[in-house]
Amino acid sequence: MAFVTIIGTGYVGLVSGACLADFGNTVICVDIDNEKIECIKKGIIPIYEPGLSDIVSRNIAVNRLKFTNSLTNAVSESEVIFIAVGTPPLEDGGADLSHVENASRSIGKFINSYKVIVTKSTVPIGTAKKVKHWVEDELKKRTDSGESKVSDLKFDIVSNPEFLREGAAVQDFMHPDRIVIGSDSEHAKNIMKNVYRSLYINETPFIETNFESAEMIKYAANSFLAVKISFINEIANLCEKIGADVNDVTKAIGRDIRIGSKFLHPGPGYGGSCFPKDTRALLCTANDANSPLTVVESAVKANEEQKNIIINKIENALGNLNNKKLSVLGLSFKPETNDMRDAPSITIINALVKKGSIINVSDPVALDEAKNYFSKINNSINYFKNEYEAMSGTDALIIITEWNQYRNLDFALVKSLLKTPTIFDLRNIYKRKIIEENGFKYYAVGQ
Ligand SMILES: NC(=O)c1ccc[n+]([C@@H]2O[C@H](COP(=O)([O-])OP(=O)(O)OC[C@H]3O[C@@H](n4cnc5c(N)ncnc54)[C@H](O)[C@@H]3O)[C@@H](O)[C@H]2O)c1
Repeated sequence: MAFVTIIGTGYVGLVSGACLADFGNTVICVDIDNEKIECIKKGIIPIYEPGLSDIVSRNIAVNRLKFTNSLTNAVSESEVIFIAVGTPPLEDGGADLSHVENASRSIGKFINSYKVIVTKSTVPIGTAKKVKHWVEDELKKRTDSGESKVSDLKFDIVSNPEFLREGAAVQDFMHPDRIVIGSDSEHAKNIMKNVYRSLYINETPFIETNFESAEMIKYAANSFLAVKISFINEIANLCEKIGADVNDVTKAIGRDIRIGSKFLHPGPGYGGSCFPKDTRALLCTANDANSPLTVVESAVKANEEQKNIIINKIENALGNLNNKKLSVLGLSFKPETNDMRDAPSITIINALVKKGSIINVSDPVALDEAKNYFSKINNSINYFKNEYEAMSGTDALIIITEWNQYRNLDFALVKSLLKTPTIFDLRNIYKRKIIEENGFKYYAVGQ
């Protein structure tokens, strides 16, 4: 078991820290956001993630998990330091590495003995070597300022990308498909196996690579999934035009194990904090390397277009959207999370408001987040905890995110609440026949 520090206590850092503590490591989670740290210390978990709260409190109670805003002690007390800070997109789509650089330089300022420095954030190919350079640069500054024995301080770098899915993050971290460890140091790789000992002895595949491959694996995985989603969205759009039903198509092609049934669900386009930014960052890398990724490029374009197709579908069905009142169920980018980053609901609702509609929205956990995202148009939006209250007196219902509680609506009640019985089911969660038998006009994707 190891002494571990995690820098960045967001979706990835908090889940990783809590789960690594549950594996028996002693973990300190650090964040520069003091308010966040104080909340977690009081037992308030800042994100909605099933199972996370229990695992955090369980490990705090046995003293294996601590939270702080001070990196100094955390670094000196740990042998393994994970960097799990954000890597948001820059204007040109490339990844902003400023948080990773700050974290790396802070490590360089404070290390006092051998450390394994691990990039857990999703970072462009070549970043592990940059982290090494930033740490060395800080060590050199310490030497230049007269500090003794700094040249004796050794460290290794590991690239250990994270594949957890929000909404199932704890489950994914505890039962990963694989652990990727990119490093040029056998010693560091062995320490990483020790950190993940519970998984290693359970025969989780450990894939050992160089830095570049480890970094590439994460981008290739996310880009492949994004391509798969854009592919099925375009097939769905074509199905609509030619009289095919995409549900039948996906059921049949998904049975082919070479294709697989996962990520074959058409909808309003992918969103979230990873696919949009990671596909664009990979395109920047491809551009810099003069090695085009035209398939990924097309997937990104198709994803943007998918939202316009949905907006046009709503407008074509309802006519002039000026002064229409619409209800929207589901705002987070997918169910079981309150994460609104790049959620399709943002683009769709903004467009509907721009066309003059008033929107009643409901979501089981993302309403507070949503208020920030819609701060500029909040006078056109009404927020409801209860989904039926949101529907009351609206011209149509639009289901954007497929939370379980929206899969079994009381249609008699819905019909009595809507001004005109019209449903846009952007996730194909209902069967057309049943909805139409209940007297609704039903618009789905690809049918
Ligand atoms: N969210 C996911 O599902 C997911 C999955 C896999 C990989 N990733 C990657 O993991 C990384 C983190 O993503 P996230 O969703 O957890 O981000 P996040 O924004 O939720 O969390 C990042 C945290 O880092 C903190 N931070 C920034 N600079 C810091 C510093 N110098 N010292 C200490 N704390 C600092 C921020 O205050 C914030 O709390 C990104 O690179 C992302 O692409 C995310």
